[in-house]
Amino acid sequence: MSAPGFDPPARFVSTRYQGSKQRSFDLFERALRPLCFESAVDLFGGTGAVSWLFKSWGKRVHFNDCLRWCAEVGTALVENAATRLDPARAEELLVPLAGRRYDDFVARTFGGRFFLPEEDRFIDVVAQNVAAEPDRHARALGFYALFQACLKKRPFNLFHRANLAVRLRDVPRSFGNKATWESPFERLFLEALAEANEAVFDNGQDNTVSCLDALACPLEADLVYLDPPYVRRDGAAFDYLDGYHFLEGLVEYDRWGERIDRRYKHLPFARRPSPFSSGAALHEALREIVARAKSARYVAVSYRDDGIPSIEQIEQMLRGEGRSVVRFSRSVSYALSHRKGAEVVLVGERGASVSPGRRRRVAPENRRR
Ligand SMILES: C[S@@+](CC[C@H](N)C(=O)[O-])C[C@H]1O[C@@H](n2cnc3c(N)ncnc32)[C@H](O)[C@@H]1O
Repeated sequence: MSAPGFDPPARFVSTRYQGSKQRSFDLFERALRPLCFESAVDLFGGTGAVSWLFKSWGKRVHFNDCLRWCAEVGTALVENAATRLDPARAEELLVPLAGRRYDDFVARTFGGRFFLPEEDRFIDVVAQNVAAEPDRHARALGFYALFQACLKKRPFNLFHRANLAVRLRDVPRSFGNKATWESPFERLFLEALAEANEAVFDNGQDNTVSCLDALACPLEADLVYLDPPYVRRDGAAFDYLDGYHFLEGLVEYDRWGERIDRRYKHLPFARRPSPFSSGAALHEALREIVARAKSARYVAVSYRDDGIPSIEQIEQMLRGEGRSVVRFSRSVSYALSHRKGAEVVLVGERGASVSPGRRRRVAPENRRR
């Protein structure tokens, strides 16, 4: 049962993450809100946008993502029901604590790659202060603010290239935001924290977080939501660990050095083999997950209409597991590639026969008034 009387905040935080569904809430309102479910697993949680939306609908949510930094974001915004990190405490996290010895791993390792020298030193201090924060939810909020401040300072909001020079070059450009790049880190941190504090709420449910490979995560819920990495038609896939390795390192600060692959200039984490990095393997991995989710009443899949597998293949996969399928979509333009396409949500309902004109059952409390 949804908790009576809770009042969700009006907005989710603004994230800067490839594939974040924060702009797709209208699509989910149409596709998923009318469904009859009490609990959900968000298996590829990312920024937690979809988990947070489910939470705002009063559902019991489990957020999962294989990246530790994403799990921190899920902890701050989904699991966390009440903790806020007040600005006075936050200010203390931004300066060295008297008498404490600090490692300078970022300054020593990444000098000149992503940030200015004083920014590297700032990140070193804040990462260690936040990690020492004893309260799990306050710590996660601190990490969230640090991640966002770092992302905002990066060309394309990514760490896939050692391209600090792009930020510093004094030329007109069609991307990025020079004013944000020049804002002090402290201000970006405090702004991000204020947004996150506002997004915290209690929906009366015990919402949880895990950091597991999707193929190993339990799927016991009424609705299993899948938003896997997208593989393009030409077979190329965005590698999330490569794009965001620096944020993963902030959470694994003490072991960061062991994880780096020094053959590359941007010093990413050593690659892990992943079934979500090629079309054929993704197809098989999705099939395995859909089969494993057999006790869930609904399996919902977000994907783009120009990827591998195709939308029709994913529909077939859901039907092959005895589910009826309804397709929802919205058109989108992709800023970096200047392309237009459609974002699709497929809803596969177990054992429901779909007759024309009666596409799905709608719980009475969710019927539109
Ligand atoms: C398209 S994004 C999800 C975006 C998310 N729905 C949101 O709104 O922010 C895909 C996510 O899958 C995660 N991921 C990639 N491989 C994974 C795996 N093997 N197991 C679990 N998560 C994985 C990535 O870290 C990334 O956050």
